[in-house]
Amino acid sequence: MIWSGATFDVPTGSFAAVIGPNGAGKSTLINLLLGGLKPASGTVEVLGSPAETGNPRIGLVPQNRSLDHAGSILCRDLVALGLVGTRWGIGLRGPDLAAEVDDVLTAVDAQDYAHLRFGEVSGGQQKRISIAQALITKPDMLLLDEPLAGLDLSGQVDIVELVHHINHDRGVTVLFVTHDLNPLLAHIDSLVYLIDGTPRFGNVDDVVDSGLLTRLYGTPVQVTRTADGCVFTRTE
Ligand SMILES: Nc1ncnc2c1ncn2[C@@H]1O[C@H](COP(=O)(O)OP(=O)(O)OP(=O)(O)O)[C@@H](O)[C@H]1O
Ligand SMILES: [Mg+2]
Repeated sequence: MIWSGATFDVPTGSFAAVIGPNGAGKSTLINLLLGGLKPASGTVEVLGSPAETGNPRIGLVPQNRSLDHAGSILCRDLVALGLVGTRWGIGLRGPDLAAEVDDVLTAVDAQDYAHLRFGEVSGGQQKRISIAQALITKPDMLLLDEPLAGLDLSGQVDIVELVHHINHDRGVTVLFVTHDLNPLLAHIDSLVYLIDGTPRFGNVDDVVDSGLLTRLYGTPVQVTRTADGCVFTRTE
């Protein structure tokens, strides 16, 4: 048993963080939404339908992308694979495909390095390419599994701002797995938090609380709210 007793709805259009310690089952939750795993009991619905594999309404930015496989592929080809990879042999070709790839590359501001190999661009640039690939099916939901790992502070803020715009401008529901909440606090409206073996859902004001985060991470966490409404968390 990885976790149990999860009963919640994430409202359509939310920008929700997913938090919990290593091994708590965050990636497992993502995998359930993608239909890659079935729950031992209970049901999982995504965008009003049972979770199933190959759902083009979900875009995934995976936790770890193997450079063994992707490193030698040109960034723009990797983005195109998000579309043709799901319908091999049919679908868009030539100028139509190029135009769709250009659209998402522009949306993530990655045109300048899209001609390079994936293994040649920086970690932050790789994240943008992965987000572009996830966006190319025009999904209604975006799942990001620790997209901030390995990025410096400004790189983290850039990715969060980008995802905020995707959520806000396109109405895409976002689940964003993260270890560090601080870069997200200005933009998320809710959190899924895995505590005591159960994923739960709550709004920012209720979950971003010293006692709850201390219990969740098993280490003292302080929450500070400034007069102008900014919120920070800090481990002692
Ligand atoms: N394919 C699998 N077979 C068996 N156990 C697995 C499998 N995948 C994950 N687990 C176990 O399930 C638990 C949850 O793993 P999961 O990857 O969902 O955690 P996580 O919260 O994403 O952790 P992290 O923060 O380290 O990414 C772990 O104990 C892990 O060892
Ligand atoms: Mg994980």
